[in-house]
Amino acid sequence: MPAVTVEDITSLDRVPPFDATRVHRPVRTVTIAPGGFEGEGFPVRRAFAGVDLADLDPFIHMDQMGEVEYAPGEPKGTPWHPHRGFETVTYIIDGTFEHEDSNGGGGTITNGDTQWMTAGAGILHIEKPPEALVVSGGLFHGVQLWVNLPKAQKWAPPRYQDLRAGEVGLLASTDGGALVRVIAGSLGGHGGPGETYTPITMLHVTLSPGATLDLPWDPSYNALAYVLSGAGSVGIEGRPIETGQLAVLGPGDGVRLAASTAQESRAPEVEVLVLGGRPIREPVAWYGPFVMNTKQELVTAFEDFRAGRLGSVPAVHHTPDHIVETSSDER
Ligand code: FE2
Repeated sequence: MPAVTVEDITSLDRVPPFDATRVHRPVRTVTIAPGGFEGEGFPVRRAFAGVDLADLDPFIHMDQMGEVEYAPGEPKGTPWHPHRGFETVTYIIDGTFEHEDSNGGGGTITNGDTQWMTAGAGILHIEKPPEALVVSGGLFHGVQLWVNLPKAQKWAPPRYQDLRAGEVGLLASTDGGALVRVIAGSLGGHGGPGETYTPITMLHVTLSPGATLDLPWDPSYNALAYVLSGAGSVGIEGRPIETGQLAVLGPGDGVRLAASTAQESRAPEVEVLVLGGRPIREPVAWYGPFVMNTKQELVTAFEDFRAGRLGSVPAVHHTPDHIVETSSDER
């Protein structure tokens, strides 16, 4: 797992210690993410399937992409497609993804990098493995999270943020058994690089077998823990959780995660994505690539997309953007 690793974890600042006044959040539900396929056919786990949107708020949707070992020629991406009304956050743990959008944003993200795209009023984009990876095949593992925008910001101009692995905030647990990567928001005064319209915290935590981690958590945020790989427990009651499962936690200002002492040899550590945000508490009308407040706004989004008002696919460089003809006398 190349997503930012640290040689000497003891050199890092520590997660602030818990005091007796903190209230650990209990576990409300644990759900299993069903498998599916996205885009041109890359395998995903639908992390939030079956969970009420009110419990996810301000998050909408999350796919764990892979983990998959592609044979040469197999890596797949998505075709050009539109979005409006929210933000997509793509975090690549292993492998490489290229992004391009109709707003001029784009770049290559790999091994611990994050791409933060605010669709806002509307955008078209494409996400695909680079040509070299298609040829060679290889390991691919990442996450795409959808963060909702409040009504007042659904019409914000589109924005693209390329967040490099080196900018991620890093902390260690008190006993040094867990590494915490702060991708967005903050933890114990350590901020992550992502600038978000909706206040959120997004962490990627790695726990060694047998380790326990107590995270201080903003009581006004919700709290979700999704296990990318490994087995352990969550919450003060130690509810078992393993690969591909999501825990929704109840109220409180602390989140406890623990790794079982025995792990499978292919995934010796426990990898958990911990998410929280301030709920927006507005009506959600969601269909396909659009997340709005009303059905009428969804109809408008489809009309605007069909009319080309969400942007157009950029021209391929060095190719004509009009019909080029030659007459026979010029040959
Ligand atoms: Fe997309």
